Amino acid sequence: MQRTLIIYSSVDGHTKTICEKIANQAKNSEVDILPLDADINIDQYEKIVIGASIRYGKYRKGLYNFIEKNIETLELKENAFFSVSAVARKPEKSKPENNPYFIKFLKQTNWIPKKMAVFAGRIDYPKYKFFDKYAIKFIMLITSGPIDTSKSYEFTDWNDVDTFSKNLNL
Ligand SMILES: Cc1cc2nc3c(=O)[nH]c(=O)nc-3n(C[C@H](O)[C@H](O)[C@H](O)COP(=O)(O)O)c2cc1C
Repeated sequence: MQRTLIIYSSVDGHTKTICEKIANQAKNSEVDILPLDADINIDQYEKIVIGASIRYGKYRKGLYNFIEKNIETLELKENAFFSVSAVARKPEKSKPENNPYFIKFLKQTNWIPKKMAVFAGRIDYPKYKFFDKYAIKFIMLITSGPIDTSKSYEFTDWNDVDTFSKNLNL
């Protein structure tokens, strides 16, 4: 049976939840899910999937370090990358071709993932600390998003996650 590694770069756990959803669809793969900061050796896997979320306009620095360190091995394998952000809830920023974070990521790394996806994330106001809560509220205000800080909002289209997952053929 082929082995697949799904790596997540997540701060509040939503990207990890997406990874678990993807892993649950596996039929022909034995799947491991690991955080980006684990001690990872990708040699033993045939497929590598990386999912990363955006925070204040950026992926975590560790994501770029990981790709730089593993690019040669990564490219020898089946590989995929997906990005998670709040702005991806907007149709005009919901695809690898039009999502500004994804476009920047492709420019910043030398990696062209064989499969790519963009997913809208989750805003969990009650969970955020004071500064983050009001920073996100401000971002939402200027991007016409929801601003009721007593609520959580999940923008993820789980059908899109399913489609990506099927396409990975795990
Ligand atoms: C402090 C903070 C900053 C964020 N900054 C951005 C941002 O700049 N652009 C964006 O589209 N989404 C932003 N988001 C939304 C996250 O990408 C979204 O909540 C995502 O689901 C987080 O995934 P995670 O739980 O795996 O970290 C931010 C969220 C938080 C909590």
